[in-house]
Amino acid sequence: MDIIIGADHGGFDLKEACRTHLEGIASIEAVRDVGVFGPASSNYPDIAHQVARAVAQARYGQGILICGTGIGMSLVANRYKGVRACLCHNLFTARLSRQHNDANILVMGGRVIGPGLALEMVDIFLTTPFDGGRHEQRINQIDGR
Ligand code: RB5
Repeated sequence: MDIIIGADHGGFDLKEACRTHLEGIASIEAVRDVGVFGPASSNYPDIAHQVARAVAQARYGQGILICGTGIGMSLVANRYKGVRACLCHNLFTARLSRQHNDANILVMGGRVIGPGLALEMVDIFLTTPFDGGRHEQRINQIDGR
């Protein structure tokens, strides 16, 4: 499994913690970090477009986006067909984003949650399967199918 991750300055510290965590997971072959690479002010759409485009084109199966609140990243990423970027705040929403929404991008707010919780959410995002069934039909309805 390969994963792509990115953040703006509001999510920079949490992105660094997540990337280090991901690099320690044996089942992940490659972690692609598209930045930002420092705390200087940056524009979240630049990063969200890179991650969402890569997931929409199936170059990466899963992605993680982090900004200050997670809201800006969500707004941009969900403009891409086939991307289901889910802004999660706790273990429950991280789990349900996979089980019910088949999330392919986990979005978090670096100014909202701390690293301890975030890393557990990442683990849940990576390991929880989609429930399918009635939820499959609902996923298809997102694109009007
Ligand atoms: C940056 O100040 C902040 O606006 C950004 O990280 C994000 O929270 C936007 O939604």
